[in-house]
Amino acid sequence: MTACEYRPGLDGVPATQSSISFVDGQNGILEYRGIHIEELAKHSTFLETSYLLIWGVLPTREELADFKHEVQTHRRLKYRIRDMMKCFPESGHPMDALQACAAALGLFYSRRALEDPAYIRAAVVRLLAKIPTMVAAFQLMRKGNDPIQPRDDLDYAANFLYMLTEQEPDPLAAQIFDVCLTLHAEHTINASTFSAMVTASTLTDPYAVVASAVGTLAGPLHGGANEEVILMLEEIGSVENVQPYLETCLERKSKIMGFGHRVYKVKDPRAIILQNLAEQLFEKFGRDHYYDIAIAMEKAVEEKLGHKGIYPNVDFYSGLVYRKLGIPTDLFTPVFAIARVAGWLAHWKEQLEANRIFRPTQIYTGDHNKPYIPIDERN
Ligand code: CMC
Repeated sequence: MTACEYRPGLDGVPATQSSISFVDGQNGILEYRGIHIEELAKHSTFLETSYLLIWGVLPTREELADFKHEVQTHRRLKYRIRDMMKCFPESGHPMDALQACAAALGLFYSRRALEDPAYIRAAVVRLLAKIPTMVAAFQLMRKGNDPIQPRDDLDYAANFLYMLTEQEPDPLAAQIFDVCLTLHAEHTINASTFSAMVTASTLTDPYAVVASAVGTLAGPLHGGANEEVILMLEEIGSVENVQPYLETCLERKSKIMGFGHRVYKVKDPRAIILQNLAEQLFEKFGRDHYYDIAIAMEKAVEEKLGHKGIYPNVDFYSGLVYRKLGIPTDLFTPVFAIARVAGWLAHWKEQLEANRIFRPTQIYTGDHNKPYIPIDERN
């Protein structure tokens, strides 16, 4: 094999073969298993889409009912996990709490039988079922309250909002939240998915796979951007301040959160759908004045940076939707994680089907044959 050119960030370097999702960044197309994201957002549900991603086909009515039932009956947390969570500092970031909880699942469900389809299914169900409960539980516990139990009569999205806010959500809010989960469920080989695949390739357990992916998603250049967008809109404060804020960012060469993408060179198709969902929520529950700032920001950034292919990404409008749903800002990234678990698990399963441990090469830039200097002779 000949030496390859080094590409920082592995830009453009294929690291796997996958049939899970597809992005055409020039034309703003995203497909899960060949189905356009717009179709899934309109007609599917998060759990049906998760099934599609993980098992490669849309489930029959019966298969979907069984899958939903299994997920529904595994939502509760063991009391020891709740006890462990009570020891977490309230000031800790919910993504750190989630990463610790996901890893802890490995302690409680330690059997590792990666060749057994029943084990794979049980792990998929458990992770999809319990991650939302963990996010909601941490939110209540850090306020000094006991977590509330999931409600079996509520579907996936509605139950999460219920566990978080202690109120049964409005049906439109629950339906929109479910679409948000579908939109965030998968996105080819992004940083957290790559992290999941590298971990999976060592044949460790799926809880370690998800824990490593959660840790990777947390960063502000990846999933953490949705939180940063709202902090940015708060800092801008008014439509009049958009232009000066942008000028300052450009002068300092700082990144504008929620804009730009390694693959998309047009507006992210998920941002288009999310903007539409935000408008539906504003129509029913009242407009958020940050939306006006966001629109002005999009226009200003397009004027200045559109020629470089910098447009809103998925994180630009998602925070506005989550705010209207009553989700606290520092839970935006954990909410992203709830959805992305589906994609990580799909890649985990695909990785196991044709596994070879990831072990890339490097270009060494250090010295050779240097003498060891005894400590007394160093200066
Ligand atoms: N604001 C200003 N300039 C930007 C931005 C931005 N948000 N994004 C890219 N650029 C410019 C960058 O300065 C560079 O310009 P030049 O060629 O003149 O030096 C050029 O575009 C290429 O940027 P890059 O950083 O090399 O691009 P990348 O593919 O390595 O990074 C990115 C992609 C998403 C990390 C980056 O666009 C970014 O930091 N965006 C802000 C953070 C963000 O919104 N992240 C969420 C990403 S989407 C969801 C997800 O993956 O979780």
